[in-house]
Amino acid sequence: MKERISGTTKIVGLLGWPVEHSFSPAMHNAVFEYLDMDYAYIPFPVPPTGLARAVRGLFQAGVKGVNVTVPHKVRVMDCLDEIDPYAQAVGAVNTVTLHQGRLQGYNTDGAGFIASLAEAGFNPTGKRFLLLGAGGAARAAAFALVGAGADKVFIANRTFNRAEALAGALPPNIGAAAGFFRDDLTKVIDACHCLVNTTSVGMYPHAGALPIPAELIKSHLIVADLVYNPVETELLIEARARGCRTVSGLGMLIYQGAASFKIWTGREAPVELMLQVLKKENR
Ligand code: ATR
Repeated sequence: MKERISGTTKIVGLLGWPVEHSFSPAMHNAVFEYLDMDYAYIPFPVPPTGLARAVRGLFQAGVKGVNVTVPHKVRVMDCLDEIDPYAQAVGAVNTVTLHQGRLQGYNTDGAGFIASLAEAGFNPTGKRFLLLGAGGAARAAAFALVGAGADKVFIANRTFNRAEALAGALPPNIGAAAGFFRDDLTKVIDACHCLVNTTSVGMYPHAGALPIPAELIKSHLIVADLVYNPVETELLIEARARGCRTVSGLGMLIYQGAASFKIWTGREAPVELMLQVLKKENR
């Protein structure tokens, strides 16, 4: 990368704490190189106490845009001039750009999720979903599904009142909390087209865990996992063994990155190349 950076290079990057395990720098820098664009993507480790100063300072110093990751996705909203309606609904921003002197916040996770379903040939319009989990990733997926015209989004979570809170934040005819007891879940699953794991169950270093009992993974379901490390989670392996179509978390990671890339540069990102880079990084 170094020899590519010159006095005209535009800088984008990632604000997080920590940032060293992120795949985003490798993914975006590979794209810039491939498209011969005079950009570089830099990781910026920013502790929580320094967020507002870092945002002001980086944009003052000419940075064009940033991704925002854990633990800053919510608090960064206080540092911005404008927030896009979907990001406002989710309550989290993962992409910031400077447009005509104003800092604008977006959340591209939802677009990434919907694009990953589309890539798998699944159109969420009019469909019913069961989301496992009620944290930030569940919020991003739930509001994206509402925006994509889902018929119903059920939320089941270990801590039931968080499921109720998220279901209650969705339009009343769409959101519903689902009990995590086997009988309740069975009824919901029978009524749903798609099961989405938004919990961290099955994520490295606890790969091998299932977020719901295996016998509830019914063959009529499309099963999506937002966990991408490992790419082949136990849930996806089990689901395929039971005849389900599956969608891995890698697609969401790629397409949220592609959507951020478009916000900063106005260009379409080569998703095939991004996939190759991520597969290499994820080994
Ligand atoms: P994120 O922003 O990545 O969604 P989060 O807000 O911490 O992270 O949410 C993590 C989700 O995974 C929550 O729904 C959490 O359930 P609780 O609300 O009960 O904490 C769920 N989760 C994490 N570990 C879990 C486990 N071992 N079993 C079941 N659910 C788990």
